[in-house]
Amino acid sequence: MRKRDSERLRLGGVRDIESLYELYDEADLPAAERMRRDDGTPPGTRGRLTQQARARLAQEREAASDDGPPEGDHWSTWGDADERGPEPYPSWLVTALAAVDYELGVLKTGKEADVFLLERALPGTDQACLMAAKRYRSGDHRLFHRDAGYLEGRRVRASREMRAMESRTHFGRNLIAQRWAVAEFAALRELWAAGAPVPYPVQRIGTELLLEFIGDADGTAAPRLVQLRPDPHELGDLWRQLIEALVILARRGQTHGDLSAYNLLVHGGELVLIDLPQLVDVVANPQGRAFLHRDVRAVCAWFVSRGLPGHVADPDAVAALLLGEARLG
Ligand SMILES: Nc1ncnc2c1ncn2[C@@H]1O[C@H](COP(=O)(O)OP(=O)(O)O)[C@@H](O)[C@H]1O
Ligand SMILES: [Mg+2]
Repeated sequence: MRKRDSERLRLGGVRDIESLYELYDEADLPAAERMRRDDGTPPGTRGRLTQQARARLAQEREAASDDGPPEGDHWSTWGDADERGPEPYPSWLVTALAAVDYELGVLKTGKEADVFLLERALPGTDQACLMAAKRYRSGDHRLFHRDAGYLEGRRVRASREMRAMESRTHFGRNLIAQRWAVAEFAALRELWAAGAPVPYPVQRIGTELLLEFIGDADGTAAPRLVQLRPDPHELGDLWRQLIEALVILARRGQTHGDLSAYNLLVHGGELVLIDLPQLVDVVANPQGRAFLHRDVRAVCAWFVSRGLPGHVADPDAVAALLLGEARLG
């Protein structure tokens, strides 16, 4: 148990989470989170283990490995998740609680979040999967301050929470990071369930999301769209996939909110949308249309720069199409 406690501390003050949850006004939670709670489980208890299950787990783990996980790695955190991805769980996902999480390295460090490569594998078997661990930082959140407009359509009622965030105490900064993690996990759950091309959201613990790794089995991450120089046929195909994805969002009344050739990955010819904490409700957000236009302009510019004809990647036409799909036309 001691080891697990120290793991939790290492994962960025996750021990604060229960108290953080008390600050959440139900009305502030994204719809998916509220729905999850409507099944009668008290907040924060879903996904946690009963005493009995813990005892069984301890036995399983002992059977799986005599010495515990190797130094620097830790038992799978699946059983400790604050929330998990939609069921049915994908067949590639390792859900055995006796599995071990291996940190394989950094995919990208950024100002708001760091992304790591993680392998979850059951010792002594061939069950293994790769995941991207996106850890929101408790530091200075440019995104939050610069783009406070994103939050306009969402109500922030708990004034204690607002004060904590404004005072920029460690607690307040962690709360901001946690809000973004909660928002991104909810967005990914919803979009995954709606059939949009996004990484499967495996679990969230506090400020850390584990996502389906988009890349090769050897751990090579998929390139961002911005790095590619597709031939005309591939370019046309990626364009078609992009429009299809944006239509799925638009029909839900949503736009990405930070769309660019940096937040699109391409793996095996397939386009994947990532980086969704600021998913915008085009209807409820007073700046919703402006965000949609900005998203569309950013991607159209990239496609035109790679040779797609301007009359095809025409921002006005695409925005009109999407607003029509969102019934805002
Ligand atoms: N699921 C994933 N699979 C593979 N690589 C990922 C995944 N999620 C993120 N990355 C990598 O990490 C980078 C940063 O992730 P992103 O979600 O865009 O966070 P941010 O831009 O806020 O730092 C991405 O550009 C991509 O290279
Ligand atoms: Mg990004």
